[in-house]
Amino acid sequence: MAAAPKPQVPTDPVELKKWRENEQARERAKREREKAEIGSLWSRRDFLGKLGWAGFGAFSLVALLAAVRSAFPRVLFLPPSKFKAGYPSDYVIGEVSEKYKQDYRTWIVRTKAGFYAIFAKCTHLGCTPRWLKAEQKFKCPCHGSGYYISGLNFEGPAPRPMDRFKIYIGDDGQLVVDKSVLYEMAPGIDPNVQHPESILKVA
Ligand code: FES
Repeated sequence: MAAAPKPQVPTDPVELKKWRENEQARERAKREREKAEIGSLWSRRDFLGKLGWAGFGAFSLVALLAAVRSAFPRVLFLPPSKFKAGYPSDYVIGEVSEKYKQDYRTWIVRTKAGFYAIFAKCTHLGCTPRWLKAEQKFKCPCHGSGYYISGLNFEGPAPRPMDRFKIYIGDDGQLVVDKSVLYEMAPGIDPNVQHPESILKVA
């Protein structure tokens, strides 16, 4: 590329003065342009720097929260061992109430003789059976065990009847189920016969 021709420096003093002024103005404009370019470069660097700090801050916060959480392991809150199950008059003779199955894994059965509370846990491998009203039986969906309304097993691999919880009437007249008292059922015997105390007798 050919070199730019050298500017002609005037010899006339008046022209020379004007020329110098023009040169100085051009020089000032050039410096201003350079300053502006450097300024925009720094402001871009500044932005990227802030972005980097924000990312670092977010990462540190997540790490801190994880550390705090690991210092407080999850606590498993179990339902209280006793629960109120309404008034005896809320129940219909011959029916199985599933109202407390979801929260307390308990069926409350009302018979002519009274009430009993069955622990809704299959004695084979612990699945939760279903009450089939039309067939008047509890049926386990896992391997097909079947139980009569008393909880006595009669089909499938379940080795024994389902257990029962203690049930009684509280001071306020409501039924109370105490899950801390479990009547464990032995194989081959009707639960009403082997644990008659599991039945709350009412007139
Ligand atoms: S767990 Fe109920 S039949 Fe296997």
